[in-house]
Amino acid sequence: MYPGLAARAASLDAADGLAPLRDLFALNEGSVYLDGNSLGALPRHVPERLRDVMTRQWGELGIRSWTEGGWWTAPERIGDRIAPLVGAGPGQIVVGDSTSVNVFKAVVAAVRLAGQDRTAGQDRTDGQDRTAAEGRTEVLVDATTFPTDGYIARSAARMTGRRIVPLAPAEMPAALGPRTAAVLVNHVDFRTGRLHDLPGITAAAHAAGALAVWDLCHSAGALPVGLDAHGVDLAVGCTYKYLNGGPGSPAFLYVAERHQAGFDSPLPGWNAHADPFAMAAGFEAADGAVRGRVGTPDILSMLALDAALDVWADVRMADVRAKSLALTDFFLECVAAYAPPGRVSSLTPAAHAERGSQIALRCAEAPAVMDGLIARGVVGDLRGPDVLRFGFTPLYVGFADAERAARVLGEVLAAVPGRVPPGRR
Ligand SMILES: Cc1ncc(COP(=O)(O)O)c(C=O)c1O
Repeated sequence: MYPGLAARAASLDAADGLAPLRDLFALNEGSVYLDGNSLGALPRHVPERLRDVMTRQWGELGIRSWTEGGWWTAPERIGDRIAPLVGAGPGQIVVGDSTSVNVFKAVVAAVRLAGQDRTAGQDRTDGQDRTAAEGRTEVLVDATTFPTDGYIARSAARMTGRRIVPLAPAEMPAALGPRTAAVLVNHVDFRTGRLHDLPGITAAAHAAGALAVWDLCHSAGALPVGLDAHGVDLAVGCTYKYLNGGPGSPAFLYVAERHQAGFDSPLPGWNAHADPFAMAAGFEAADGAVRGRVGTPDILSMLALDAALDVWADVRMADVRAKSLALTDFFLECVAAYAPPGRVSSLTPAAHAERGSQIALRCAEAPAVMDGLIARGVVGDLRGPDVLRFGFTPLYVGFADAERAARVLGEVLAAVPGRVPPGRR
């Protein structure tokens, strides 16, 4: 143990204005939870709120809760609660479905918007997407994307007669041109924790006449996003990581106000209809982001998320970002002190402007090392074959956690034999 690092951790925790928020979460005090970039921790008050949803709203009010209890409008109401956390004004976010489904809606809608034929929002009878004829035949996709985005974008491209061009996000500005319909980029890379240039890529897409679609799964609730300020067109994100909505909590879809009238959903379910209870045979899209809805919302998960969002009441995202960077800097410093030389190397950029809220360490023995860490109460995760991921959620992770995690990592590495370098065999 380096007493200097432990003492520094204690004084950093004492000076941390977000530290009191930790008490809002149900954490196992015997362990260090660094997996909030996969599944956020449970806010303590959520079970009681869900009990009310189950027993009173469902059990007593029953079907009346759809109207009197506000169930029907929950997707847009909860979207408005997420909006300030990602820098969006009201009326532009709806909650529902998985991120994967929202990627599909967003990519198809972006392609359609890129060559808007002005019939969006009404039943199409010709079955065609005319924008391909206008020459915008390509969708640029982050080559290291979370796999689901790539799978879905490829299918969306096939269905709309476009082709996918996989590229590193940094290469996108140079590749954009008159053939580009849209770009789909992860704001923070799920594996490396690299933060991509949302303002720059969005501006470059617009200069080329294309639309920018961002996946915010690893940035929503972790750092300022500035959707409106940077003119993002469409965005999606999950709520079970840094927004702590719970396992499988519904995702969100952002449709910038200027695109709402032209947003032509590929999944125009009855919840997106202007008058859903008219049960009309023909589809007429609702106004606003509501046209991004599909079918009946998953109320239990959605209201668990609604409750979980209460923890943000007095939190400024700038403070979250400052603490996230301080935590990840400190963790890297502790890893450098505790880990035996040459056993791990950081895949996460050192530059703050390029770092999300996780640290990814490459380690040849990663599976055995992560097993050892979890057995000793340090919960991170593994992205095969050789990446150890550690998520830092500023609302409930402290500097003493970072010091302990790095110290235990050093112990585990000392106990797990390293591979003999080829030259020394
Ligand atoms: C960047 C990113 N996109 C998409 C997904 C998948 O989302 P879902 O399972 O909600 O469809 C994840 C899940 O971890 C993710 O990290």
